[in-house]
Amino acid sequence: MAAAIIDGNAISAIINGETATAVSELLTKHNVRPGLAVILIGENPASKVYVGRKVKKCEELGIFSKKIELPAETSEKDVIAVIDGLNKDPHIHGILVQFPPPAHISEKAVIDAIDPRKDVDCFHPVNIGKMLIGERDGFFPCTPYGVMLLLEKSGVNPAGKHVVVLGRSNIVGKPMMALMVQKAKGADATVTVCHSGTKDLKAFTRQADILVAAIGKPCFVKAEMVKEGAVVIDVGINKIADPSSKTGSRLVGDVDYDQVAPIASMITPVPGGVGPMTIAVLMQNTVKACKASIAAS
Ligand code: GUN
Repeated sequence: MAAAIIDGNAISAIINGETATAVSELLTKHNVRPGLAVILIGENPASKVYVGRKVKKCEELGIFSKKIELPAETSEKDVIAVIDGLNKDPHIHGILVQFPPPAHISEKAVIDAIDPRKDVDCFHPVNIGKMLIGERDGFFPCTPYGVMLLLEKSGVNPAGKHVVVLGRSNIVGKPMMALMVQKAKGADATVTVCHSGTKDLKAFTRQADILVAAIGKPCFVKAEMVKEGAVVIDVGINKIADPSSKTGSRLVGDVDYDQVAPIASMITPVPGGVGPMTIAVLMQNTVKACKASIAAS
């Protein structure tokens, strides 16, 4: 039987609706509008698209947004100076630097420069640490927490399940592991993290009740790697050549959807699965940062 599709567009629309309500409450009760600054360095076309989507979503939900476009040759020092200014700006509650930055700029230097209270991406070591030990007053990492929400809203409880995460990036794989393993409602899973050093990958992925693919390799997960009835979450967004498409290319995930959908019980499509959830959590985090700043003032 074909898998049920987990519709990230529909689920994110519900969450974004809640965020819009929270934004109007902040305006009426406190006369404060949440503000997000998005910094784009250079001309990476994919990054431009992602930044455009984030700014558009802010507009839709009533969040103030400030888009700062810096030339590719901007020095690390100058980027950090911009971040310092935003750290001090009372109208800005969240700061996001779109990654990857140009090669001469260190991701670590950028992350460390952001005030952890405005780190709505949850990349700063302070927030990663808080998440790891289960503290709730930091932020949730946008894509991994988006996956948790997708599962919750689809009626999938990871408790006691074997979750296999493919990929160990700081942005997705590692925080995904940390959220899934928490002793908390909607988590409490047994987690295996597989990566490029894993031997006999298929032996692990075939054990997964919930398989989360986040390795950035188009259509990597094939039918024989998936257990019958597994829930498959595809975090990958890869552009591949497609001469039959008008644009000459199309987006695919890390999962070979056509092969895996008939085996899985539930699956996320690409696009329209995890992608919109990442932005929904970013918006939630911006509201959270705004509320915390009001509480602290
Ligand atoms: N590049 C790819 N994913 C992300 C993300 O979630 N946040 C930022 N800032 N950059 C990214």
